[in-house]
Amino acid sequence: MREFDETSVTEAVIERLSECDDPRFKRIMSSLIAHVHDFIRDVNLTEPEWITAIEFLTDVGRTCTDKRQEFILLSDTLGVSVLVITLNHPADGGSAESTVLGPFYWEGAPDLPRGSNLAEGVKGEPTFYSGRVLDEQGRPLENALLDIWSGDGDGNYDMQIPGETGMRARGRIRTDPEGRYWFRSIRPTFYPVPTDGPVGRMLRKMGRHPYRPGHIHMIVSAPGYSPVTTHLFVAESQYLDSDAVFGMKESLVATFERHAPGLAPDGERVETPFYTVSYDFPLRRVREFGANTAGVLP
Ligand code: BEZ
Ligand code: FE
Repeated sequence: MREFDETSVTEAVIERLSECDDPRFKRIMSSLIAHVHDFIRDVNLTEPEWITAIEFLTDVGRTCTDKRQEFILLSDTLGVSVLVITLNHPADGGSAESTVLGPFYWEGAPDLPRGSNLAEGVKGEPTFYSGRVLDEQGRPLENALLDIWSGDGDGNYDMQIPGETGMRARGRIRTDPEGRYWFRSIRPTFYPVPTDGPVGRMLRKMGRHPYRPGHIHMIVSAPGYSPVTTHLFVAESQYLDSDAVFGMKESLVATFERHAPGLAPDGERVETPFYTVSYDFPLRRVREFGANTAGVLP
């Protein structure tokens, strides 16, 4: 057939993949074509709307720099990132739950001794974090690594502060022989995802707020175990029930216990109220035949 109507065009495009020799790529592209065509028929997309969509995606691409990934932000705010993560890391109780990485991870945070203050000179309420990294049987994992980052007490990450070129509120801590970790940082507060680009315009047009509940990020890893990219959420934070990127998981909500000024867990005197929080991270052994992690696109 040389000519197609608004229904037969879908099969025709999928048919053109008949010579594709990568079965996974073929499956993904066929399904993508079928769903996009169904969507266009479903909403009866007009030509101006189609042009608007193309201009929007072009703008998303133009907004990306080596420091900003607007496509990931788009994926995050449409719930796509957390859908992919949740499909690939189901909450079956064997491991701490995973959630979004976000755009503010910075590889190469300093290795610090346990007990260090990651947020030296950073605005925010002092908080003493502690807990253990365990295997699926609850046995301690020695030398597990926590790569930790958060915004400051105003919700700003170092990368967002004009003129700030160094790392702040970041560090890598390893567990002791009993699997324990402890460090000092600040109590994170809610903050908006970047709204000065096309994704921000999209959120406003959708009538959505841009806020994420207060959280601290960590990637927890140990040799032979599946690493977990996760957060601890502040139980008392606003926006737990409407996280702009849908990354909130109940199992990651932690109680930040408030204390009057006085002796902190590290023996130091703290002159302001401070918080303590305790959380254990179980890790699952790497499966020998795990999910297909091979690249899909050429
Ligand atoms: C974050 O938590 O750092 C974040 C995650 C997704 C989008 C924007 C920020
Ligand atoms: Fe964050």
